[in-house]
Amino acid sequence: MQYQVFSREEQVGQAAATLFAAQLLRKPTTVFGFATGSTPIPMYRQLVRWYEEGVLDFSYAHSFNLDEYCGLPADHPQSYHYFMRENLFGGINMPAAHIHVPNGNPKQQDDAGWAAEGEAYDMAIAEAGGIDIQLLSIGANGHIGFNEPDEVFIRDTHRIKLTQATIDSNVRFFDSEDEMPKTALTMGIGSIMRAREIVMVITGPNKADIVHQMMHSEINPKIPATILHAHPNVRVLLDEAAASKL
Ligand code: GLP
Repeated sequence: MQYQVFSREEQVGQAAATLFAAQLLRKPTTVFGFATGSTPIPMYRQLVRWYEEGVLDFSYAHSFNLDEYCGLPADHPQSYHYFMRENLFGGINMPAAHIHVPNGNPKQQDDAGWAAEGEAYDMAIAEAGGIDIQLLSIGANGHIGFNEPDEVFIRDTHRIKLTQATIDSNVRFFDSEDEMPKTALTMGIGSIMRAREIVMVITGPNKADIVHQMMHSEINPKIPATILHAHPNVRVLLDEAAASKL
């Protein structure tokens, strides 16, 4: 796992955007893995700017997002479908048919329905040729996507119960805790680890502890991000605040 520290948050976004742009320029049919959360927003802004300036063309690229809350309609302002439209897809020319975000609102919302949804998602990634470059950030409890701390790593795309720590940190985006979904559909650890390259962006002082734990712990499902030690091509881009305990 290689890491680089930048003095400011915006530089992390610029550096990540540069890696994603270079990948697209090298391979116009790139399959991207995208993430939500506040950390990737500066990178998405830069990609939109480069598209507007005519530097980037996404018309042959495809994308798969990491996760989605269960039970929120795609047009709910806190759904990750909505987030991606607002922050990236609405500003670039990737065809709608090439954009994939897990469906957190399938018709069949029982165990079999969620399992079928997860299986179809992993299948679609494989049929697209696999993810070339995956963006990740990290939850304060070490989650990647919505793979929460657990006794085991879960390989495939699946429905997960959010931990109280995640509910506590994301409830600020909802009017109340009652309104916030308590489950999500997330790419599994295997789905993430199959990406050929992983770029992780982490900023802000509230991530300093988990960054230290991720870097210095053995691979361990209680800190899901530690699995990245087993990936041959991970680059972690940090600002000084997130790197302050290294
Ligand atoms: C959510 C997402 C994660 C993301 C995390 C951190 O929980 N499921 O993929 O990494 O938020 O978000 P932020 O970047 O806002 O700290």
